[in-house]
Amino acid sequence: MGEVLPRGPQSYFRPVIDSFPWWRNAVVYQVYVRSFADGNADGVGDIAGLISRLPYIASLGVDAIWINPWYVSPLLDGGYDVADYRDIHPMYGSLEEAKRLIDEAGAASIRVLVDLVPNHTSWDHAWFKAALDADPGSLERSRYHFLPGKGKHGQLPPNNWKSVFGGPAWTRVPDGEWYLHMFDVSQPDLNWDNPDVREEFIDILRFWLDLGVSGFRVDVAHALVKEADYPDATEDDTDSVLSTPTGEGHPLWDRPELHDVVREWRAVLDDYQEKMMVAEAWIPKWERLAKYVRPDEYHQAFDFHLLKASWNPEAVRATIEGSVAAATSVGSIPTWVLSNHDVIRHVTRYGLAPHVEERAWLLSGDEDRLDLDLGLRRARAATLLLLGLPGSVYLYQGEELGLHEVHDLPEGVIDDPVWERSGHAEKGRDGCRVPIPWKREGPSFGFGDNGSWLPQPEIWSELSVESQDGVEGSTLELYRAAIRIRAERLRDDESLEWIDVGPGALAFRRGSGVTCLINYGDQLVPRPEGVLLLASGPLQGDSVPANTAMWMADA
Ligand code: NOJ
Repeated sequence: MGEVLPRGPQSYFRPVIDSFPWWRNAVVYQVYVRSFADGNADGVGDIAGLISRLPYIASLGVDAIWINPWYVSPLLDGGYDVADYRDIHPMYGSLEEAKRLIDEAGAASIRVLVDLVPNHTSWDHAWFKAALDADPGSLERSRYHFLPGKGKHGQLPPNNWKSVFGGPAWTRVPDGEWYLHMFDVSQPDLNWDNPDVREEFIDILRFWLDLGVSGFRVDVAHALVKEADYPDATEDDTDSVLSTPTGEGHPLWDRPELHDVVREWRAVLDDYQEKMMVAEAWIPKWERLAKYVRPDEYHQAFDFHLLKASWNPEAVRATIEGSVAAATSVGSIPTWVLSNHDVIRHVTRYGLAPHVEERAWLLSGDEDRLDLDLGLRRARAATLLLLGLPGSVYLYQGEELGLHEVHDLPEGVIDDPVWERSGHAEKGRDGCRVPIPWKREGPSFGFGDNGSWLPQPEIWSELSVESQDGVEGSTLELYRAAIRIRAERLRDDESLEWIDVGPGALAFRRGSGVTCLINYGDQLVPRPEGVLLLASGPLQGDSVPANTAMWMADA
């Protein structure tokens, strides 16, 4: 990787272009529609609820929303099992309502990104049903990966590939063939060597672009193409959605051929104005992640390194430098993200005792190892770090309220297929998908008029929008202020210069004269010269306490 960002206290990089497209330094708010707002009192979020809350989203000052899959689906993986890519699940509304949402959001200067799920369909998709009805070797089967099994009677799976959700990645159908599913058994993988598949997705892209969306978040963008002769995998760490292996030459992940598909999509987007696509690619190696954001591929890729970095200034700085260097080496810009619908909410992650293995902790839920006050202090500080950086920031609904992971959901309500497929060894991702509390009181704290599909903790009354709206110092008002200041002062600035503030803390100055300091240690750190713009918590005179961040402007 080219050293775009020299290491050392004066690290600095300059804008690569003069005027920036909207997405380069955007703040994008992720809407998990099922859990955002329920407009028809059935306990499930929907488009009507989302439309009714557009003024709230506008009040945050974000540039765009990304909506998790809202398509027709049996919802066996929260909608990432799509049965019809061109229609809305009736539980969420209709295509007309989707159009209304796109238009009304646009009128409020909020762009809409939708989720594209190209690696697999649902087993309810017309193509897969046709494949099951057709014979081995048929055109219908060739759109997926159907193979004969191994062993004398074909009774063994074609190879040793494992599903990310646990268990083998192959399931046998009655005539004896096996089909590939890298995720749930209900999510058969598409065959990207098949021209029908390629054409279909180009058409799907155009369908949503013509409806007015500004782009796409692309699901498991590092999957798609599989090695042609299906060799056994030598690496065996496909157990978690968070740790997909991406070593060079893996038969399943991060195949070089997938970049041809991405270039085809990019050409489609380039036919329109101001459209973008962001890749969900869990790629540990920056030089490989950078390949996804070459000028004729994705505009951006989620960079999950910061999400995984520990609460430590050296680790965080190395992560920022690595992310910046990787993205800018190909003319792109990093993305920053701490939470989404797949990971434990970061208030909880930051509140866990050191060395606790997070997913294992979720099963035990040992509260002696969790300090939520500390987690919230750190989360608020990390927000100022994130929003102080050049590049795009992706926020997950509810983080602006300081919501934590609901780790103690009763087993009976668990919906994530990970729970069953892992043989109850993984609790899954429902704890970060609990519906938003809008009001202090009432059924489901204002999420809807009739309860919520996952139970909310009582304490969320205090964290509701109503409890925080207009309240100085609340997490909600901290987010609003930070996003506003960022828009006013940082949007057209892609520079960053590190400032040495001694051990335990990190500080950088942006070319536009804003300095961000974050204290990871337990000692007070003197605050830099200048005018205080914002702090994540109370300062002590001229000092920044532990687990606190602040922004200063040049005097
Ligand atoms: C990544 C999505 O974010 C996750 O929720 C889903 O389960 C997998 N991809 C499979 O589509």
